[in-house]
Amino acid sequence: VTERTSGHVRVRVDAAPAIARGYDVIVGSGALEELAEHITAAASAAAYAVVTPHTLEDTLGARVQRVLRDAGLHVELLAFDDRELTKTRETWAALTDRMLELRLGRDSAIVAVGGGVTGDIAGFVAATYMRGIPVVQVPTTLLAMIDASVGGKTGVDTPAGKNLVGAFHSPAVVISDPAVLGTLPEVHIRSGLAEAVKHGAIADAGHFRWIGEHAADLLSLDTGALEHLVGHSVRLKADVVSADPLESGRRAILNFGHTVAHALERFTGYTTPHGLAVAIGMHVEAVLGETLGITDVGTADEIAALLRRLKLPVHARLDADALLDAMSVDKKARDSRPRFALLRRTGECAADGAGAWTHAVDSQTVLRVLQQAAGASELV
Ligand SMILES: NC(=O)c1ccc[n+]([C@@H]2O[C@H](COP(=O)([O-])OP(=O)(O)OC[C@H]3O[C@@H](n4cnc5c(N)ncnc54)[C@H](O)[C@@H]3O)[C@@H](O)[C@H]2O)c1
Ligand SMILES: [Zn+2]
Repeated sequence: VTERTSGHVRVRVDAAPAIARGYDVIVGSGALEELAEHITAAASAAAYAVVTPHTLEDTLGARVQRVLRDAGLHVELLAFDDRELTKTRETWAALTDRMLELRLGRDSAIVAVGGGVTGDIAGFVAATYMRGIPVVQVPTTLLAMIDASVGGKTGVDTPAGKNLVGAFHSPAVVISDPAVLGTLPEVHIRSGLAEAVKHGAIADAGHFRWIGEHAADLLSLDTGALEHLVGHSVRLKADVVSADPLESGRRAILNFGHTVAHALERFTGYTTPHGLAVAIGMHVEAVLGETLGITDVGTADEIAALLRRLKLPVHARLDADALLDAMSVDKKARDSRPRFALLRRTGECAADGAGAWTHAVDSQTVLRVLQQAAGASELV
């Protein structure tokens, strides 16, 4: 369900009824000023812990703190180091310890103000603190607005791989204000655009085309274009996660591009912005789908063309063997054959013969496609 209230788009996401209630995603420039109303309506609490990276502590973190304090709410600001390398159990422990020191009780709530790293780790703290307190997601990167803040997946990385320890913990409400993207480094704008391309590629050819037609507006941070992009991408993701909140089936299509992306991130020591790895991953996995006769021929070229318009990489200088090794610890890998979410064509995913939404592919075929996809590095 989508409606416009006070000039903002509101998208409803249904969660797994046994686990959480559904929640709203509110998208609009200026939404941050109405934060207190949205938060008290969705997550009334005795105290709010605003979790934000050091990089945003004096800007967006302080602003959120002020907006909430002006509304008479009890607020504590917890700043932390949000590098992907420190999205770990140690950081989770440090944050929970600080909350315990502050004597925040079961009647408190967390407000995550930051990118996907912040949302994932603050969400995981909320999922576990006192056996679970509400979390409000206030995404401040394009990627987090489009993808990470919606769907309830929270967690941390381990030496064995990304996001391997975590929990499903739906937010009480998500508030996305594209006006905050003005300070985001350009590479992270492109990173977010990659996840929007993914939503179009797996579920909506019209959205995929729209992104191509508005590439220049998006790259120059046109407010109207960004609002439409975030709103529509959230709607597409909401449709998928509402139908399958715990990823027992079709939700796995959101992993398109991600088997390769996660391996690439691991291989580069988590220094590649997630969306850039996803861009390369989508192209490689589209080629893989074509090789297997699952994806319509020409799809990989369509994806490559759109990624290039968005100044996103299509190739990476990659070591095919090492990348294949890195895939064997992917959560989607059962019986040691890596699994991939594959397209039927742009805008549509393909189930395998047994009705599963990921396809097990033998290592030799994967290796061949990876070798073929290796090119001059475009990672910038
Ligand atoms: N839970 C999910 O469903 C899900 C989905 C996709 C991605 N993720 C996770 O999200 C993470 C990636 O998120 P990301 O791309 O947002 O990266 P990020 O959280 O690392 O943020 C990127 C950088 O931008 C800075 N930043 C954030 N907002 C800013 C702003 N408004 N102005 C200036 N700087 C700002 C951050 O401090 C950081 O340095 C990965 O860990 C990935 O696994 C989770
Ligand atoms: Zn992703």
